[in-house]
Amino acid sequence: MKILVCGGAGYIGSNMTAALLKAGHSPVVFDNLSKGHRAAVKDAPFVEGDFGDPEAIRKALRGNRIEAVMHFAAFIEVGESVESPLRYYENNVSRTRTLLQAMEECGVEKFVFSSTAAVYGMPETVPITESTAKRPINPYGETKWAVERMCHFQSMTGRLRYAALRYFNACGAGSGGTLGEDHRPESHLIPIVIQAAMGRRDGVKIFGADYPTPDGTCVRDYIHIEDLCKAHLLALGKLDGERELAYNLGNGTGYSVRQVIDTVRRVSGKDVKVVEAPRRPGDPPVLTADASKARRELGWKTDFPDLESIVSSAWKFHESRPEGYGRD
Ligand code: UFG
Repeated sequence: MKILVCGGAGYIGSNMTAALLKAGHSPVVFDNLSKGHRAAVKDAPFVEGDFGDPEAIRKALRGNRIEAVMHFAAFIEVGESVESPLRYYENNVSRTRTLLQAMEECGVEKFVFSSTAAVYGMPETVPITESTAKRPINPYGETKWAVERMCHFQSMTGRLRYAALRYFNACGAGSGGTLGEDHRPESHLIPIVIQAAMGRRDGVKIFGADYPTPDGTCVRDYIHIEDLCKAHLLALGKLDGERELAYNLGNGTGYSVRQVIDTVRRVSGKDVKVVEAPRRPGDPPVLTADASKARRELGWKTDFPDLESIVSSAWKFHESRPEGYGRD
């Protein structure tokens, strides 16, 4: 299938592009390189463009005879979204509306959307199922949920088939450790701890050591990027027979911040300096997925359920690219 990968030069999009190629699809990467890296696009055609530009999108859709769109282009920083909500609504919602309109005009029906566990906010119980109440507590989660609702109503017209995939903590590196995380600035725990182990930052701040969890630090559900991409392929296939799909993507196992730090120490053989810092606003103590729906309906199985193999793949990426993708 010919697939436009919006945001295909970013962390998840570049891994998805590699997975699509491996599965025999023909991806075309569409990215404005505002966050992504040209060097992360390897063997697929690349179109530099903005998904908020209707003409550019229509040209990419028609010119490449695109049959489905996978959409990863979004701003993803919770703190920044609280500071600048309108930027988040503009980029994550308004531009996605433009993209969906261009798809409608070009007769492209299938859409796989990168959503997030942040749509659930501070859930009262874990693990989280797809029917857990959607109560985002920040503009980032709210904008992702707004797009899911927009897709829902658009699908009711019969002109869209979509899958919303709600990621828990995407991490690790794919394609043999060559496609990894390089956010600027970096805010995600695993790359931060790895950078500290490499001596590229002084140490790691633990944001809160007084949570009601076994070791006092927050617990998250870390999911390897290649497992995540596998679920996208399965969801895309299922859109032939379905108009509307939503799945949580996680392993269902929680690891604490301290466990992540210890795993990086073990994998790298290096020490990591740690300081306890105040809680980061908006962090729920525990977020774990009930992903049984994806396993049941898609036949999804994860290949890297343990933290050690996830961290090893990330370590490999950072070791081989200490500067990340560099200035490209
Ligand atoms: N943490 C630290 N120190 C750091 C960085 C993170 O202690 O330097 C802690 C955080 O407080 C949190 C955990 O490590 O408890 C994981 O933090 P990340 O920022 O790596 O990931 P989040 O769980 O906050 O965020 C992830 C996604 C977001 C998404 C969110 C909600 O990266 O895009 O889940 O589902 F919004």
